[in-house]
Amino acid sequence: MSIKNLASINQSFYKKDLISIDQLDPLSIQIIFRTTQHIIDLLQKNEGGDILKGVLATLLFFEPSSRTFSSFAAAIKRLGGVTVEYQNPTTTSSTVKGETLEDTVRVFENYSDIIIMRHPMTGAPIRAAQAAHAPVVNAGDGSGEHPTQALLDMVTLFQRFGRVDHLKGVIAGDLLYGRTVHSLIKAFAMFEGNELYLLSPPELSLPPELMKEFTKKGIKLTQLETEKEIPTDCQFWYWTRVQKERFSDIKEYERVKNRYVVTPELLKERGNKEMVIMHPLPRVGEIDNRIDSDPRALYLTNQVKNGMYIRMALIALIMGKL
Ligand code: NCD
Repeated sequence: MSIKNLASINQSFYKKDLISIDQLDPLSIQIIFRTTQHIIDLLQKNEGGDILKGVLATLLFFEPSSRTFSSFAAAIKRLGGVTVEYQNPTTTSSTVKGETLEDTVRVFENYSDIIIMRHPMTGAPIRAAQAAHAPVVNAGDGSGEHPTQALLDMVTLFQRFGRVDHLKGVIAGDLLYGRTVHSLIKAFAMFEGNELYLLSPPELSLPPELMKEFTKKGIKLTQLETEKEIPTDCQFWYWTRVQKERFSDIKEYERVKNRYVVTPELLKERGNKEMVIMHPLPRVGEIDNRIDSDPRALYLTNQVKNGMYIRMALIALIMGKL
């Protein structure tokens, strides 16, 4: 593809919102991979530190976050941009006084070029995007989606296997409320030949409407009953936390948390040498600490680094800087 064509494809991100993985296609995902690698290469040469010079991003986080918040902030600042940071506005801001989400967003867009939003309510970023002229990036909405997490997960697999099609993997944990897996399965469904094995307590299985929607897109999804059924030739295991904050009954949470745990024993029994082990973090017991030093474990290393790199790439594309 010529540079000219590439530039025009990059333009398709210009000033656009990113609310759902559905807004992307295989080509735009490849552009994000390529831009991410370009940024990694520049940073390695101590270059690129001014790509976002003059850009001010507002981080509007209505729900607790450490990694996503910090990686967006680090991504923007390391490329020379600046941020207005607002965490947990539900306890510290006008929201407490009853301000609508729409008004909050309209105010902040006066200060900034782009708004990055996390919200406990599924669909909130769509409302924000409808109210705002500035582009809005969804950094996780309730049990809805978490598109930038899916992108960092996909780029991590791409770096390891050189492809994101024809991969076989397990997705385990909270498939009902887990927004990371909702976005990730959608992303996998865009590429040919992926096979996913779903492992969750029955109470936390993928909602039937999502199962139907994803299967219609052509992805092969198989529900497993126990970890003993995990195929031994998977390329990845993607484990997730049970989303405590989405439960109204804490006893129900206690009953289902840590039903499935990655242990050295399980890895020995059902794993293989080439596979990788992933988790969006935070983990609360789903992966035994003894796995951390295993070279196949990418959750504290590659995934975390890529989180910053893909957010750099995405914001640079949306701001028209690359
Ligand atoms: C995830 C999230 O917030 O959805 N964390 C993250 O962004 N890395 C996963 C989780 O909270 O379990």
